[in-house]
Amino acid sequence: MDFTLTEEHIMIRDAARDFAQTELLPGVIERDNKQEFPHEQIKKMGELGFLGMMVDPKYGGGGMDAISYVLAMEEISKVDASASVVMSVNNSLVCWGLETFGTEAQKEKWLTKLATGEIIGAFCLSEPEAGSDATSQKTTAIDKGDHYVVNGTKNWITNGNNADFYIVIAQTDVEKKHRGINALILETGMDGFVVGPKEDKLGIRGSDTHTLLFNDVKVPKENRIGEEGFGFKFAMKTLAGGRIGIASQALGIASGAYEIAKKYSKERVTFGKPICEHQAIAFKLADMATQIECARHLCMKAAWDKDNHNNYDVSGAMAKLYASQVAMDTTVEAVQIHGGNGFVKEYHVERLMRDAKITQIYEGTSEIQKIVISRSILKD
Ligand code: CAA
Repeated sequence: MDFTLTEEHIMIRDAARDFAQTELLPGVIERDNKQEFPHEQIKKMGELGFLGMMVDPKYGGGGMDAISYVLAMEEISKVDASASVVMSVNNSLVCWGLETFGTEAQKEKWLTKLATGEIIGAFCLSEPEAGSDATSQKTTAIDKGDHYVVNGTKNWITNGNNADFYIVIAQTDVEKKHRGINALILETGMDGFVVGPKEDKLGIRGSDTHTLLFNDVKVPKENRIGEEGFGFKFAMKTLAGGRIGIASQALGIASGAYEIAKKYSKERVTFGKPICEHQAIAFKLADMATQIECARHLCMKAAWDKDNHNNYDVSGAMAKLYASQVAMDTTVEAVQIHGGNGFVKEYHVERLMRDAKITQIYEGTSEIQKIVISRSILKD
């Protein structure tokens, strides 16, 4: 086993780290307070290639591997998980789904713009009654010959108000259950497509999360991704890769909080010495470092599976399950190490603790990851 990063990997990681420190860190607290989308920063991320990292260069992407993506996601998430969820959705769910299953015409029309950040995308699966139970789609896409008519509501949509390109999962043939579901491309400005209210969230407050409403939206047949009835499998396959992105986000939130807490523990003096010299704190840091290293290995393993064309459903689910738990545990401890200072905004760790929680919920709750893992291990 070779755990060495290549020179290119190190370069990408360092570029992401520099960007996060110079462009995302200033203003991150204010954006969180005001629930302000990082427009300028996302535009720059697109220009630097962070929004279409794995896309083929012929479509304007970086042509990078999944390991590079994990490294960059960790660095961006250490500082600003609101920016990194935009990055994750655009890379893993939107660009990957379109590049892997879209037609050449769809890729020519949209992929280059998505990969360069000229436009950003959203992935619309969740509904009021179909979150974890994703086969129970109530949004309908009725076949009208050369087009579908879409009606329904989607919930919790990341980039809901800032995307121009939406992949919407909808039921065409109820009798066929999950085999009657389609994945359709909708665009801003289509008649009957309404962006609903913005959610007021606990964490990742700089990202925008909206309800979307569809009232008789006419969607041309050429906007369907994959064959008729492929929509549910499309969603599952796409989410499997998305989970590597969110696992890396969780890893970044954990390592960001750990690094801040470690630095603070060397500066803060109690009972005549820096608090890191008290075992109560040193042992916390040892646990945090160990858990983060385990989470990083799981993220890398899942990315390595993806890069080597192995199935990554289970390794991605394990990485997300574990890294999101580590994100919660580590950020809580980082606040504890800071004492009262951890409870106020300027030290960043309270925000990271709030941001950590969503990694156990979106792109499949921890319980969903356990379903994926347990079904696989119990198969034989
Ligand atoms: N790859 C390919 N096909 C898959 C698959 C995968 N990873 N997982 C399931 N399928 C296929 C199955 O083979 C089956 O097809 P056939 O019947 O043709 O063989 C079909 O899909 C149905 O599979 P299941 O019977 O396993 O389906 P299920 O109802 O038991 O559900 C589940 C499985 C894993 C619980 C799934 O519903 C699930 O992942 N739920 C969570 C959904 C989710 O992650 N939502 C998050 C929303 S997106 C988001 O958060 C984005 C954001 O904005 C940040």
